[in-house]
Amino acid sequence: MTDLTDRLWAGDSLSDDEWRYLIEGDYEKQALFHEADKARRRYYGTDVYIRGLIEISNFCRNDCLYCGIRRSNANVSRYRLTEAEILACCGQGYALGFRTFVLQGGEDAYHITAWVAGVVSAIKEKYPDCAVTLSLGERPRRDYEIWYQAGADRYLLRHETATRSHYEKLHPPEQAYLRRMECLRNLREIGYQTGAGFMVGSPFQGTEELIADMRFLQEFRPEMVGIGPFIPHRDTPFSGYPAGSLERTLIMVALTRLTLPKALIPATTALGTIHPQGREMGLKAGANVVMPNLSPANVRGQYSLYDNKACTGQEAAEGLTALKESVAQAGYRVVESRGDAVQAE
Ligand code: 5AD
Repeated sequence: MTDLTDRLWAGDSLSDDEWRYLIEGDYEKQALFHEADKARRRYYGTDVYIRGLIEISNFCRNDCLYCGIRRSNANVSRYRLTEAEILACCGQGYALGFRTFVLQGGEDAYHITAWVAGVVSAIKEKYPDCAVTLSLGERPRRDYEIWYQAGADRYLLRHETATRSHYEKLHPPEQAYLRRMECLRNLREIGYQTGAGFMVGSPFQGTEELIADMRFLQEFRPEMVGIGPFIPHRDTPFSGYPAGSLERTLIMVALTRLTLPKALIPATTALGTIHPQGREMGLKAGANVVMPNLSPANVRGQYSLYDNKACTGQEAAEGLTALKESVAQAGYRVVESRGDAVQAE
């Protein structure tokens, strides 16, 4: 196994059989996680970066078959934060030590270009030492440009799967795989630190699809990669499918760290949701970011992408002291900085 991970780290491309062995082969997975941890320590030491996640709206025009806030789900009570509410979240987060704010939301028609730009510039004006990350889905290139000019630093847009036929099984026909890929390229060209990512164990995903995801990451080289297990949501067409496995998710996190040693990789909320120690295990498998929830407490339950989504305790910004403690237990240290990606050599 280590001959393969050494080659990954060196930037080699692997054959299908080699990838298949790494993803589903019968070898000691702790050894893989150890190699990934070596790679993360080489560039980031024991640093763990924190991001304050503000879920600004759960209105969404999309109908992703896996997602609890899809437009067809009439059981969601929809909300949208005001600029004042978002700024209040940032104020609380700043006092707690957050230096990155992530504004995430469904594709909400109310989020007109100028409104978002205004919120971004208000945050940057008040907190010039903070990074702003946007995660608002697919938009015309022009919107991404305007938000970048307003001061946004980073953008998260998971590719979800790098296999077109698989993408089409997870989304309705009006959501096009090529448009998602085009958005990612636009974000990158504009100058954002760009985040891609995928779910592990989504319906119809096999090892072939995961290999395609790894090859996509190897080629696109995003600065950030979000990876979490698929978790069914009761009000979606995929309610009956099993959740992705913890081990498989950790393997994909580790392989991503080895493929992109300098990437910012969160130990995702979904990972923390399927196992009480999921987040710590993610850190030990190569993740170096955690994103506690900074949304107003009264709306947290409504941003329900999947069942039982964790949003209290250490998943909540108020639980930061406890989070720091468990990060330390795992052998790392939460640092209060913007936490930008280390530069390419
Ligand atoms: N299980 C796990 N992750 C999900 N997401 C959406 N729905 C689910 C689910 N049921 C992820 C998607 C999306 C991100 C915001 O949340 O990958 O990009």
